[in-house]
Amino acid sequence: MQNILVTGGCGFVGANFIRYLLEKSNFKGRIINVDKLTYAGNLENLDCMETAFPGRYRFVQADICDPKAMADIFQEFSIDTVCHFAAESHVDRSIFEPGGFIRTNIMGTFNLLELARIHKDRLHLFHHVSTDEVFGSLGGEGYFTEATPYDPSSPYSASKAASDHLVRAYGRTYGIPTTISNCSNNYGPYQFPEKLIPLMVLNALEGKQLPVYGDGANIRDWLYVEDHCRAVWKIMQKGTRGETYNIGGRCELPNIEVVRMICDLADDQAPDHNIESRRNLISFVKDRPGHDRRYAIDFSKLEKEMQWTPKESFQTGLKKTLNWYMDHRGWVERVKSGQYRTWIDKQYKRR
Ligand code: NAD
Ligand code: TYD
Repeated sequence: MQNILVTGGCGFVGANFIRYLLEKSNFKGRIINVDKLTYAGNLENLDCMETAFPGRYRFVQADICDPKAMADIFQEFSIDTVCHFAAESHVDRSIFEPGGFIRTNIMGTFNLLELARIHKDRLHLFHHVSTDEVFGSLGGEGYFTEATPYDPSSPYSASKAASDHLVRAYGRTYGIPTTISNCSNNYGPYQFPEKLIPLMVLNALEGKQLPVYGDGANIRDWLYVEDHCRAVWKIMQKGTRGETYNIGGRCELPNIEVVRMICDLADDQAPDHNIESRRNLISFVKDRPGHDRRYAIDFSKLEKEMQWTPKESFQTGLKKTLNWYMDHRGWVERVKSGQYRTWIDKQYKRR
């Protein structure tokens, strides 16, 4: 693996992955980060990487759905490995505007697989990053395993399920070396504040309402983003081609409990005399349609085969995350005011 194409590297997990690979892993090659820079993509997430790692990191703005642009990138950078993160990723958005999810998540993945097919001879691996949401909802008992049948509930999870099927089919039909990972909910630095944890952290810090969907008893399994990145890199190095691996945090929590923990942590780390207790900011709002009740992951395959387990506990990971958002007010302000483009233009002018 010399020339890794990382798609969606300016998003939350992708940016953490590139940082992990260059700053903390044993990887010695070059990363080509291709990102369209949608509302969720932010060049600032990888600020200074080109200068910090000369010759080892390149950013190219492109749409994975554009066959010509992507073909040129495969050619120009002699891509021999793909780690595919790029996606429309937010369930609520997928309910209101599903079209973009079908386009990027399905057609974009298809486009990349076609290029993998053309360059099959030099391709070491096509790793596809996916979600546990493809499995649908669990009742009170049981866990998702790699053999759980797909049963997606939202346009987002359905589009990810379709992309997983395409990756597996290209592996079986054309002999492309593939691996897939299905991971539970991530949290940590650089997450766009539309997802539960960063939204609640910022609203709590700002004394705003904390909107909990339905009765707040929906359960998610939480994993600190760097643990996810470490797992993806392990799978890329050691995973059996054609296989799928579940990744999870062994950290099932009802949403209301997560929100209460954020409230208490914010009260502790950022006391505000105008707010007696952040818990008073919690309000129960109309439920999300098709809202999956419970996700829980059995990741014993990854644990046994690659000795991977999460390192960060939820308590410590949440504290790190809250402190990161407190220390990055400029990032938060730019994200919230949609100033990414201006910032990007400035960066390009400076070069
Ligand atoms: P994100 O929304 O933060 O980032 C997505 C990135 O993809 C952005 O930088 C965006 O600009 C880019 N992108 C979108 N459409 C594109 C296109 N057509 N061409 C090129 N780039 C495009 O998402 P995330 O939370 O970082 O998730 C990344 C991947 O990880 C997704 O595939 C998601 O399904 C998967 N995943 C995420 C989680 C999680 O909790 N965040 C959990 C499991 C799996
Ligand atoms: P989210 O972060 O959107 O991730 P996903 O839907 O992919 O699991 O939501 C996590 C959980 O939090 C989910 O059960 C929906 C719930 N939620 C709220 O209760 N309020 C909110 O404002 C948001 C964004 C999510």
